[in-house]
Amino acid sequence: MRAQTQAFMQRPTSTNDDRMNEQYRLVDAGEEGYGMYIADSRRLSTTLDAEFEGDVDNLVDATITSPPYADVKNYEADEELQIGFGQSYDTYLEDLRDVYRQVYDVTKETGTLWVIVNTIKKDRRVVRLPFDIADVCENLHGVTECEECGTRLKKHRESGRLDCPECGWHHDPIEDSWRLQDIIVWDKNRARPWSRKGQLRNVFEYILCFSKADDFKYDLDSIRIPDTKDFEPWWVQYPERYNPRGKTPNNIWTFTTPTQGSWGDGEVDHPAPFPSGMVEQIINLTTDESDVVLDPFAGTGSVLAQAEAMERKPIGFELSDEYAEMYEPRRKEVADEWKEESIEARQEELERIICKLRQLKFPRELTRRVRKEIGEDSLEALGINTVFQLSHELIDREKFDEDNLLMESTTYFVLDDGVDHRQEIATAAVNCSRVPPCSKFGIKANIKVVTVSEMERILADSWEWPDELYLYADDRYNETVGTMSVSNWGEYVRPTSLWRGQHAKNGYPPILSNLQAKIPDPERTGETLSLNDIHRLEGENDLEEIEPGQRALNSFGDE
Ligand SMILES: C[S@@+](CC[C@H](N)C(=O)[O-])C[C@H]1O[C@@H](n2cnc3c(N)ncnc32)[C@H](O)[C@@H]1O
Repeated sequence: MRAQTQAFMQRPTSTNDDRMNEQYRLVDAGEEGYGMYIADSRRLSTTLDAEFEGDVDNLVDATITSPPYADVKNYEADEELQIGFGQSYDTYLEDLRDVYRQVYDVTKETGTLWVIVNTIKKDRRVVRLPFDIADVCENLHGVTECEECGTRLKKHRESGRLDCPECGWHHDPIEDSWRLQDIIVWDKNRARPWSRKGQLRNVFEYILCFSKADDFKYDLDSIRIPDTKDFEPWWVQYPERYNPRGKTPNNIWTFTTPTQGSWGDGEVDHPAPFPSGMVEQIINLTTDESDVVLDPFAGTGSVLAQAEAMERKPIGFELSDEYAEMYEPRRKEVADEWKEESIEARQEELERIICKLRQLKFPRELTRRVRKEIGEDSLEALGINTVFQLSHELIDREKFDEDNLLMESTTYFVLDDGVDHRQEIATAAVNCSRVPPCSKFGIKANIKVVTVSEMERILADSWEWPDELYLYADDRYNETVGTMSVSNWGEYVRPTSLWRGQHAKNGYPPILSNLQAKIPDPERTGETLSLNDIHRLEGENDLEEIEPGQRALNSFGDE
């Protein structure tokens, strides 16, 4: 993007002296045509047409907006041009229909419209503004009469179709209107303290999500919640059940309404600013970098500022000079704040942790399945001595989408020398790795079954092995108990029953891996740590080296 300067550009006055055709000014967002137009949003098409030289059919990817709530508030802008204030409810809805139709016309086929709005109470009646707006958006051309005979059409309440009771003509307005996809509740986490009879304290608003077509941009992965603090306490025990990028959000979104920030001088009453996190969530969900985000009722430009910070191209319309001019300080504040909060970085960190846990749990789950398949529970009887779990690079995310695979590893089942059912274990291990639950771990697993002596030779021959591996013992795969030298491993595991007695538990063998994990299990500790806490713990380098015959020491001292 070009240097972000603020420029007020005057367009020549139109020859038509209708007030609606007056000058507009653009608060520049650094690229031709993008930024805040101080203009009437009913002139959206004409304005953008002029600015983008008619090339507007596929301009916008997502519109995020909150219109004036009927005639509730005077925004102190040009009273004749304001939508809502001073208008009858019907005129107000018709003006909204006009604006949302123009928004539809400049939106791509894959585009969406997000309307944040609430009910109002007037003359002791709840006015269903969100639902009236939904009706308007679903019938952008305001079709009410039969094209054949002029009779008033009757709306089929379930399908939304318009039927002529006289001649049977019918029309489905959704064909060239917005499609309501979802209704989300925005829990504002803060509200005016008052309530009255028949009206409790109001803490939520509606977020209406519309799409232009049935197939639209909607990347659920991009808004997964990567906060381990929000996870169930069992997440460490079942990492294969958690999406590596986090929890899917539900349809109640909690975002605290911002108080006026440093960008306001405290004198202008702010027109219901959106919380940045909420706008960020919608932008992530329905747009990509360089996409165009529109707000036809932009206020102080919360949506535009957030879009800009996230490398999207903003377009806004706002009547009030006073609000529009707050966009400049607002965009600076949002750009500074947003960098620290990036959801993607946290999702990647979570993915790293979940993938690690899955790889470390995998040999445990496989052992359980092998024991079951063979019908022998005792490790001693099976002669399973150690499992080496060698993690390779993570696989491309695109591959994950295709095959549900996230990573690749090699699992060596090491058996005591001289066991006679090696082939049976090998067959069972490969079979079990291919079916649930093991196949659900997202691991491309190479399974090998070898003896202790063979493993010693493999370790000696290959230069790929690190000098030390992390030991997981006592049926715990989430926290290493220390490191173990690879060259001495063969000494440590003999006599085999002593080795098993020291490190195996509950029928699970000790695991040696190149992955280091120190992820406390909330089911044991009673507390779920945040990603930051886990990161800090994993950074601590206080691991002991495990010597032959030494009881595994837990580095957290909670044995
Ligand atoms: C609910 S507020 C939007 C606040 C905005 N979401 C924010 O974060 O600042 C509605 C805005 O619509 C503006 N407005 C009213 N009529 C308009 C019109 N005809 N064209 C453009 N904006 C208009 C008002 O001035 C007001 O700022």
